[in-house]
Amino acid sequence: MKISVIGTGYVGLVVGTCFAESGNDVVCVDNDERKLKMLKKGESPIYEPGLTDLLKKNIGDRRIVFTDSLEKAVENSEIIFLALPTPQSEDGSADLQHVLAVAKRIGKLMNSYKVIVNKSTVPVGTADRVREIIGKETSQEFDVVSNPEFLKEGAAVNDFMKPDRVVIGTRSPRALALMEDLYGPFVRTGNPLIVMDERSAELTKYAANSFLATKVSFMNEVANLCEIVGANVDLVRKGMGTDARIGQQFLFAGIGYGGSCFPKDVAALLKTSKDHQHTLQILEAVENVNKRQKQIIVEKIKAHFQGKTKGLTVALWGLSFKPNTDDIREAPALSIIVALQKAGVKIRAHDPAAMAEMKRHIGGSIQYYDNNYDALKGVDALVLVTEWNDFRRPDFERMKSLMKQPVIFDGRNIYDPKVMEEKGFVYYGIGRSRPAGKSGN
Ligand SMILES: NC(=O)c1ccc[n+]([C@@H]2O[C@H](COP(=O)([O-])OP(=O)(O)OC[C@H]3O[C@@H](n4cnc5c(N)ncnc54)[C@H](O)[C@@H]3O)[C@@H](O)[C@H]2O)c1
Repeated sequence: MKISVIGTGYVGLVVGTCFAESGNDVVCVDNDERKLKMLKKGESPIYEPGLTDLLKKNIGDRRIVFTDSLEKAVENSEIIFLALPTPQSEDGSADLQHVLAVAKRIGKLMNSYKVIVNKSTVPVGTADRVREIIGKETSQEFDVVSNPEFLKEGAAVNDFMKPDRVVIGTRSPRALALMEDLYGPFVRTGNPLIVMDERSAELTKYAANSFLATKVSFMNEVANLCEIVGANVDLVRKGMGTDARIGQQFLFAGIGYGGSCFPKDVAALLKTSKDHQHTLQILEAVENVNKRQKQIIVEKIKAHFQGKTKGLTVALWGLSFKPNTDDIREAPALSIIVALQKAGVKIRAHDPAAMAEMKRHIGGSIQYYDNNYDALKGVDALVLVTEWNDFRRPDFERMKSLMKQPVIFDGRNIYDPKVMEEKGFVYYGIGRSRPAGKSGN
């Protein structure tokens, strides 16, 4: 099939590449010259495991091309995916300016029947708005479909190739037939393609992300209570998660959720409900708990050093909002850096993939090291921010010899408190019972 994808970011590039991999002819459009230059050479502008190989292969097979020409894309495709950014506006709503502006231009360029697919995460009613905007510009027949994306950064290619489910929001049999054909190769092992109306599809995406955010905030609250009452959140998690009704996933306590999706999607769903004079009380709490949780490590650092933080140097291991991505949008590292700098702390950081992104974002206000051990030289403490595999089994003796003070604040609970104590570290995790002796909690 001939398809185009408008916006080749974390979602659009994966979607375009995976559709090309299943034999379609794909035109990817972006207005970022830097990205286009890299993509045309077969280089991925984002860090995503498995993506570069697939990209190179499909460029080589001439099934995927990159351009800044929306005209070329619209004219030559029957299905047009919008994978454009929908960032958070000041009032919490999803900013639809990119989606609506591109929809208008597509309307003007329509030369035959086309399906315009909202792949971006957009509030309820956006498919109707896009339909209205395009309808004003063309007399050609078209359909607008809501097809929210559920991929996870860090496992995006696999998630797209083998989705748990595909949600198609449309009431048009003609559009549905095309979408079923396109997605056929991805759902042939029995994973469902769920068909619904556009509004339900739009809400499904927000409800799914908000529920996952709820799980994270709930466990973080349980972890904080564990510290107060002397329980261990690791054990509580195991005891809870083995109940099939609860499930084991997404129950890890930590320093709050971040990324390009959960924070803005929770805010946007809250705004949607407010716009309809409704309050989502649980979700309001989820958001508040998360904001507080992002500061929990800084509070622990301040408490350990009894408020005397000015002049300290702290190492951060991990900057991305989660492992296996270079995405730092809304990453806990950002708020930790701001709070530590405000407290007069110097920061030495290492991340396996996200240092270039962080530099682009905050510049040289922190020091970056290509090697995680180099970041430890002379520091008063280490903060484990992102649970990259690279950090799970480090050489603790080497760490201790490099650090001025052997203090670890483990924001992801990847180290064993007992082992840390045996190795001579003062160790702080999240929601773990206080081991005997000098370690914290
Ligand atoms: N990142 C994720 O994990 C994820 C998962 C599911 C859904 N989503 C949703 O998908 C959408 C895209 O997210 P993303 O993370 O890929 O964003 P992104 O910022 O990484 O990518 C968006 C791309 O669109 C391009 N763009 C902006 N305006 C354009 C225009 N007028 N013409 C052509 N290109 C333009 C940008 O240059 C950028 O490359 C958002 O709505 C997001 O909520 C994201």
